[in-house]
Amino acid sequence: MRFWIGVVGIIVSGATVGVADVGSEQRVLDLVGRMTLAEKIGQLNLRGRGSTGSTAEIPDELAEAVRAGSVGALINIMLPEEVDRLQRIAVEETSHGIPLLFGRDVIHGLHAVAPIPLAQAATWNPALVEAGARAAAVDARAYGINWTFAPMVDIARDPRWGRIAESVGEDPFLGSRLAAAMVRGWQGRSLRGPMSVAACVKHFAAYGAVEGGRDYNTVSLPETELRNIYLPPFRAAVEAGALSVMSSFNEINGIPASAHRRLLTGILRDEWGFEGFVVSDWNSVTEMIAHGFSRDEASAAAQALEAGLDMEMMSRAFEDHLTDLRAAGRVSMATLDQAVTRILRVKQRLGLFEQPYRESGSAAGALRQESLRVARRLAVESAVLLRNEGRVLPISSQVGRVAVVGPLADAPREQLGTWSFDGRAEDSVSPLESLRQSLGAERVVFAPGLEHSRSTSREGFAEALQAVASADVVLFFGGEEAILSGEAHSRADIRLPGAQQVLIRELAKTGTPVILVVLAGRPLVLREILDETAAVLYAWHPGTLAGPAIIDLLLGVESPSGRLPVTWPRGVGQIPVYYNHKNTGRPPQPERMIALQEIPKGAWQSSLSNTSHYLDLGMEPEFPFGFGLTYSTFTYGDLEIQPRQVRSGQTVTVSTTVTNSGDATATETVQLYVRDRVGRRTRPVRELKGFARYRLAPGESETVTFALTLQDLAYFDGDQWVTEPGEFEVGITPNADRPLAGRFAFLGENGY
Ligand code: GLC
Repeated sequence: MRFWIGVVGIIVSGATVGVADVGSEQRVLDLVGRMTLAEKIGQLNLRGRGSTGSTAEIPDELAEAVRAGSVGALINIMLPEEVDRLQRIAVEETSHGIPLLFGRDVIHGLHAVAPIPLAQAATWNPALVEAGARAAAVDARAYGINWTFAPMVDIARDPRWGRIAESVGEDPFLGSRLAAAMVRGWQGRSLRGPMSVAACVKHFAAYGAVEGGRDYNTVSLPETELRNIYLPPFRAAVEAGALSVMSSFNEINGIPASAHRRLLTGILRDEWGFEGFVVSDWNSVTEMIAHGFSRDEASAAAQALEAGLDMEMMSRAFEDHLTDLRAAGRVSMATLDQAVTRILRVKQRLGLFEQPYRESGSAAGALRQESLRVARRLAVESAVLLRNEGRVLPISSQVGRVAVVGPLADAPREQLGTWSFDGRAEDSVSPLESLRQSLGAERVVFAPGLEHSRSTSREGFAEALQAVASADVVLFFGGEEAILSGEAHSRADIRLPGAQQVLIRELAKTGTPVILVVLAGRPLVLREILDETAAVLYAWHPGTLAGPAIIDLLLGVESPSGRLPVTWPRGVGQIPVYYNHKNTGRPPQPERMIALQEIPKGAWQSSLSNTSHYLDLGMEPEFPFGFGLTYSTFTYGDLEIQPRQVRSGQTVTVSTTVTNSGDATATETVQLYVRDRVGRRTRPVRELKGFARYRLAPGESETVTFALTLQDLAYFDGDQWVTEPGEFEVGITPNADRPLAGRFAFLGENGY
């Protein structure tokens, strides 16, 4: 007997037409009814310029296109006076005065650049992440930006993929909480508020599953993986009221996302009730010709529009062909009207018909203190302490001299990370600068050793070793320049690039403890140098205030609290490696594995454990999902589960006591994991189903309680969402790699 929970449709708060909206809905429909075909097609066009040219003069033809009603939205117009001029043309010089959307990739802060989204995921702090998006929204509106191409919520299990930097990590539960938080932050409490910016959740869908971690590559996924892993953060964003969605470059099982009807209409609209609009990614409509899916641009336009795509970014298939396609009956007027309605509905909900212009006196260009405050908080809470041998950290303020080495100690542009178009290197405070401010320049000796992160030259080594000779501790700031992650920047070898590993080894030979601080856009394989370091603080690309955040953590002014949002590979050959994997019929048995070098010569073929692992790398990750050290220690008490036998309609309560058993105040992120032991479709060995952060003083305890409903345990079995009767393991642990101490049974309707 299988218990079935019908997910009969999600009432989408914030995007569902409530009674109050009926009037404005009718107004939109009336407007569409008065528009010509050309005016309707005009609303479907997103025009503008590349990210680099965004402050140059606007070409006359763009202004003329707006005046002709051929443009519905603009991208990358970052001169406020040009925004005002173009909006005035749209509102006052066109027949219907329909205001423009002004879009920009404000992915992690505008001028006050916050840590990259993967770093923000490491905070496990949705409220803080929401505050980061809110701060960025206020800064963006000052420029007249009323639409941002964020949040990016692609689940990423492959750190070779450069865009893991922009992602919320590998887990659908954590990713969903963060996706909803970012949508709330961007759109604010009232969509019509002066500081609301329409979110555009991207890239729909499963872009993070590109084969080999190579950007833009093919995605092949079973429906169960798509729905259980990759879609939940998008659904959470839609439920939070996201006003737009961006289709992704990739195909899914042979159909490019921009013309994937089941995705764009069947799931997004019919199942989830999404009422905003879908915009293509840059040129992804005409790229369907390269995909081998569309014969020509006219076909691409028809396929995309009929699948549920509403707006075309930059390519001109809609503009050039929809009139003829309509005349030939290859697209219906109803479909066209539907697309226009969705776009106008978003403009209506943003209040643009009433207030289309930038707020007067907007401080475009300002570096707001509130934005800097939130960016710094995010940088502090996103750093993950991966290693701290002999508690070498925090560094005592009584330390003598500190040698600072490495290509990222003083790299104000690189610390901003990818997708930081509006970040300004001159606003950045580097770790070197902050350390000098904290300890006094006379106690800091700096020798980069390498000109940049990819440098293979050893010319600077002597100077670096000389600096270390007079120091009590070495801070090595290594990792990746910003260009090595982000769009189109996948790497096949994800170790520290260049000669960084060689230099770290040389420094370690001096016997002076080496503290490695990594600034990077992805998890880097550290295996080869990990044992040469005394400590590792992973700061990701922390943004404008990388320096103050990192130095406060190293000196103990702040205590590290970050937790990994991704599983950490020991070698690139382990990828894909993620915590919520299946058990297989022959799960790895670490106790039976032997090191490659210890395999006896002439070993008999079946003499090693015939289980799922790598002879040379085993199967354990370097660090598990959810892992992170603090400057204290925490102990977990016994697990309490009530009831142990659960019937439909009941909630399972799971609790324990967490105690700070160390000697420093610190923040612990407790995590609730379950394992569904048996399923009609095999289930993962772990699934995150809850988390909470507690800041505890030494000796302080907290009782942690989670409530699990049966819907929380549901999964998509290929046909429907179900929670099957049977036994579940459960645990409250500090990361994904701990045993689950508890059990409960779901009895279903008639027992099981
Ligand atoms: C890019 C990216 C997308 C971005 C868009 C506009 O190619 O894929 O994330 O929002 O174009 O810049």
